[in-house]
Amino acid sequence: METSYGFRNVAAGDKQPLVNEVFHRVAKRYDLMNDLMSGGLHRLWKDGMVSWLNPPRQSGWHSLDVAGGTGDVAFRIVEASGRQARVTVLDINGSMLDVGRQRADKQGLAANVDFVEANAEALPFPDESFDAYTIAFGIRNVPRIDVALAEAYRVLKTGGRLLCLEFSEVDMPFLDKVYEAWSFKAIPPIGKAVTGDGEPYAYLVESIAKFPNQQNFAGMIGKAGFERVSFRNYSGGIAALHSGWKL
Ligand SMILES: C[S@@+](CC[C@H](N)C(=O)[O-])C[C@H]1O[C@@H](n2cnc3c(N)ncnc32)[C@H](O)[C@@H]1O
Repeated sequence: METSYGFRNVAAGDKQPLVNEVFHRVAKRYDLMNDLMSGGLHRLWKDGMVSWLNPPRQSGWHSLDVAGGTGDVAFRIVEASGRQARVTVLDINGSMLDVGRQRADKQGLAANVDFVEANAEALPFPDESFDAYTIAFGIRNVPRIDVALAEAYRVLKTGGRLLCLEFSEVDMPFLDKVYEAWSFKAIPPIGKAVTGDGEPYAYLVESIAKFPNQQNFAGMIGKAGFERVSFRNYSGGIAALHSGWKL
């Protein structure tokens, strides 16, 4: 079985170690690079995600942020709940989680957020554990997306919601050309200038181009069992936010 690693095909078992190496290499500069690569837009997209989630201002509500990296989405959810929600940040990469833990301490959010090193394809939680499952810019890095979606469905309570933010297909003429030039010509050199290494950023850009478009990804979410699947585009489809419910 093969899967894509950027524009290359690799044996399914080889993708995850390659992805892990990318995020070990970029972890310390990850947040800075996110701002540079997206011109700060990732902040607005994440804000949009959390406002669509609309976490209740009540304690006892618990969400899981998978591929949560340095904690960006988790921290927003906790703040939006008036510091009532509990969020578990799960990531396969200890280097990304280390940065997340430091940020949680600095922001005084450590009591609301816990960090778990594990794989999205094999979540170490019982069935029906969470009220919501979020994943931002993570799912395209997971080798078996269908397995990750099945796990999302399993750990959600009935009535729980999946929200997935991911780069997607640009649906505006002209913007698609500008975006392509920016992605392939600008991002790897910026990555090299900032981190001393352009290769991880070439992978990130290629993996975006290989990810299914909005409709196809919505179909995958439905196939995993989610209902009322819908999506909204951000910035002309550069990113898309998918929603599905376990009913
Ligand atoms: C682009 S970062 C996104 C981080 C964060 N969600 C954000 O939006 O800033 C992708 C994250 O996916 C994680 N990841 C990749 N494969 C994973 C897997 N199989 N299970 C869990 N996390 C994974 C990486 O370690 C990395 O932290």
